[in-house]
Amino acid sequence: MFPTPSSLNLTHRDEESQTWDQLTRRRFLKGTLLSGLGAAALGLSPAAFAKAFVTGKTAADIRGAGVDPGQVRLNQNENPLGASPKALEAIRKMLPNCNRYMNSYPFELVFKLNKLAGMSMDGVGMNPQSREEWDTFQKKNHIFLADGSGSILKAAVFAILDKGGHLVEAENGYGDVSEFAQDLQQRGRNVTITRVPLTPDKRHDLDAMRKAVTSETKLVVITNPNNPTGTIVPHEAIVKFVESVPESVKILIDEAYIDFVRDPNYVTATDLALSKPNVFVTRTFSKVYGLPAVRLGYAVGKNPNFEGFWNYIGSWNDMALAAGNAALDDAEHIAASKRVVAEGRVFLEKEFQALGIEYVPSESSFMLFKVSDTDQVTRELQKRSVFIRNAARMWGVNGYCRVSMGTADELDAFVTTLKQVLGKAGI
Ligand SMILES: Cc1ncc(COP(=O)(O)O)c(C=O)c1O
Repeated sequence: MFPTPSSLNLTHRDEESQTWDQLTRRRFLKGTLLSGLGAAALGLSPAAFAKAFVTGKTAADIRGAGVDPGQVRLNQNENPLGASPKALEAIRKMLPNCNRYMNSYPFELVFKLNKLAGMSMDGVGMNPQSREEWDTFQKKNHIFLADGSGSILKAAVFAILDKGGHLVEAENGYGDVSEFAQDLQQRGRNVTITRVPLTPDKRHDLDAMRKAVTSETKLVVITNPNNPTGTIVPHEAIVKFVESVPESVKILIDEAYIDFVRDPNYVTATDLALSKPNVFVTRTFSKVYGLPAVRLGYAVGKNPNFEGFWNYIGSWNDMALAAGNAALDDAEHIAASKRVVAEGRVFLEKEFQALGIEYVPSESSFMLFKVSDTDQVTRELQKRSVFIRNAARMWGVNGYCRVSMGTADELDAFVTTLKQVLGKAGI
């Protein structure tokens, strides 16, 4: 008998978890008490006073989805609610067949993804059984599936820059594409890389990126929303950029975090991927669908963009396909996952403001915040089982740490522990 998603507590909605309302009310009450009373007035030592009123959770109280009890894992932009229960059920159903190669065509999933990207697939049969039917389908298809969108980033670099060429990526940006390009450099390929600094408000500087494009440029990456900054660039700016660059330059637009954008004017670039021959968009099942461990991602674009990519990507994992297919239909989990991120951002903004901590408003499932010693803060948090990223060390964002959104409990524990750490470090 397999455990069911509910017996595994995969939605992380147990009775002990507090809601955002409870959390905000409790913190408000605590702030009011703290400002209205004093240790001396109550005849308490400062330590006893703090103990009496610092009622926030700590890591020891946390039972996060998919992590060991007592850990607050806010360092990898994972879905704090866990995977879509429908996806888990789909995986569970396939487990008994694991001894078989499952050579199915990923038709249903690809069909849905085409629709999601705005591609009409009218007139295409729903269930191709033969190679010919699959080939007909492929001609209309604009989806390239892979074991994670990270695999597509790698394949793009190795296929497009294989014979050398110039790459443009933002700095501070996600940076994986530049790292893969460095790998090619180290293997003797004539690859050059330009990292273009962000604007002062930590957005892609598309004008400067345009100026960085030369006759040697073969690939430009735009991560939108950007990681680690959580900022976005408007669609019109991307359209202008695409139109100003020769079609010989491939433009990869990484939309791993698209589902969390709150700006109502934000528009996906899939329309460009479907209309321009040199643009493709990457997406992942690792974030809003909560499936990073199964490895599933895809790109949207015209087929010639993906030429040679197969040389660098493994074959489909049918369990991942089934999970992805089910996750796309799990509207409830998708909405809950977006909500927990949206509410987490609002909560953290308020807490950072109250603490006088500078932060970068985020359109994504993580947020940069400023401290005077990123090494010390991340290390001290880690000692208390709260894991975040040192954005200064990892991406060169000097003075900043990056925290992923978690449940109300997890963010409560993060803020409580951050206060302890900042107090201790005297920051
Ligand atoms: C901006 C960005 N792109 C791509 C990826 C890769 O995601 P995956 O390989 O899990 O699909 C990540 C992972 O965190 C990311 O942050």
